[in-house]
Amino acid sequence: MISDLWYKNAVIYCLSVESFMDSDGDGVGDFRGLTRRLDYLHGLGVTAVWLMPFQASPGRDDGYDVSDYYNVDPRYGTLGDFVEFTHAAKQRGMRVLIDLVVNHTSDQHPWFKSARSDPDSPYRDWYVWSKTKPKNADKGMVFPGVQTSTWTYDEAAKAYFFHRFYDFQPDLNTANPHVQAELLKIMGFWIQLGVCGFRMDAVPFVIAEKGASVPMTPKLDFDMLRTFREFLQWRKGDSVILAEANVTPDENVKYFGDDGDRMQMMFNFHVNQRLFYALASADTAPLAKALNETRPGYPTAQWGVFLRNHDELDLGRLEDDQRQAVFDAFGPDKSMQLYDRGIRRRLAPMLKADRRRLELAYSLMFTLPGTPVLRYGDEIAMGDDLKLPERNCARTPMQWSGEANGGFSKAKKTFLPAISGGGFGFETVNVAQQRRDPNSILNWMERVIRMRQELPEIGWGDFRVIPTRDKAVLALRYDWRNNAVVVLHNFDGEPRETAFDPGDKDDEPSVLINLLADDHSNPEADGRHRIVLEGYGYRWYRLGGLDYLLNRTEI
Ligand code: GLC
Repeated sequence: MISDLWYKNAVIYCLSVESFMDSDGDGVGDFRGLTRRLDYLHGLGVTAVWLMPFQASPGRDDGYDVSDYYNVDPRYGTLGDFVEFTHAAKQRGMRVLIDLVVNHTSDQHPWFKSARSDPDSPYRDWYVWSKTKPKNADKGMVFPGVQTSTWTYDEAAKAYFFHRFYDFQPDLNTANPHVQAELLKIMGFWIQLGVCGFRMDAVPFVIAEKGASVPMTPKLDFDMLRTFREFLQWRKGDSVILAEANVTPDENVKYFGDDGDRMQMMFNFHVNQRLFYALASADTAPLAKALNETRPGYPTAQWGVFLRNHDELDLGRLEDDQRQAVFDAFGPDKSMQLYDRGIRRRLAPMLKADRRRLELAYSLMFTLPGTPVLRYGDEIAMGDDLKLPERNCARTPMQWSGEANGGFSKAKKTFLPAISGGGFGFETVNVAQQRRDPNSILNWMERVIRMRQELPEIGWGDFRVIPTRDKAVLALRYDWRNNAVVVLHNFDGEPRETAFDPGDKDDEPSVLINLLADDHSNPEADGRHRIVLEGYGYRWYRLGGLDYLLNRTEI
């Protein structure tokens, strides 16, 4: 197996240009600001940056309503600034992924304007229309509580148009070959400007059959995914697609493809929800089951592992009592919840900024099967601003320093206010201060990212859950090229003694070399290891120690 699949051992950092760094003092982040901060990301150990949408947009869904796919929104800079940015990232050995939002456009997109105003417009068929109101118009909303319908009447068109998301985001008729050709063109354009791939937004909806008489569970055209991938690989061999598809394990296999020939990467939403349940309840059984259920079937397929992202923490697929347990622990107040299914807070406030629990959570994120995806600001344990509507509460300016606006901008007023005051304000939580503090979470994060980079076993290898007979303790073993790594996590606040045999049946009993501290572990006479984990404690071990250094094959 060739080992230059870069995404298998990557550390991805996601950010929106808008909220990262403002270079010109207009209160909005921009590409020139972001470019200046690339050394910071490089120093943290980030190997790939995923940018949320930055194309021209009325900005009614934070850029997920695109009005021109071939331009940078002027608030963020120019195409020239974008290319300078991808070039600067490349110089530092970092790759750039960008959001690809092609399930729908903005209603201000010229295609939609043309489509709605003229039945003979060549763009009419680029969208999904119905003369009469479809029977299930009040079903299938992605934002229940905010969105009331999936079909809205348009006066100009004298017809209803379909929108899976907000009513200003008309769905593209992705079955139309002209639309499909345009999607490839969009990908080709950004690939040419230096990106290495795409986080594809809302994939199950992109490939779904759309129309007035389509049933609630529409047919999915998986061949479309193969077409996307083939096109990209022709244009740039090492480019990838990371799919946003919150689907069940039997479905996700189809997104990776029967022969691993569709999406290279998917976010592991199935594991994400059970991970939060484990953090809330100290019961790791559903998480262990979820890991086994989502074992990738192909060497090229890879999960994106995340804790929080720019959306709400979606708990929609948990059992009712499990979901309630997570709400009770991390989002008990209605104002913290969203869309009847999730929590809109950032991780640090959910965990009450408890350093032990934060380390546990991130240690897990960096050692679960797949590629870790870190959200901007999480490396300094940024908080949220629940006064802001919907998901905006967790999209506030990056907190660089204790200066005005957290050092994000010199403007009087920024696009959203930086979080100020209280335990999470920029006065106390910021990069400058944490850089100087050797014990800060930022320096801890840098250290574990470096260690994760030195453990290709996790990104590349096979894993198995080691039985510990204690549901509060999750033990995983990874094997790759005759090397093995064992990681332990205690989800309980109380110390736990755990005894386990990390070996394969025919293995000699091995020493466990602690990779983050000095306390290595020797096997007892029965070959088992007995390890006491502190409350919320974790361990990263290499099995066998010295052998590893002698046998290591360079990747
Ligand atoms: C995805 C994005 C979300 C956006 C939606 C509509 O779910 O993650 O932020 O609102 O698609 O594009």
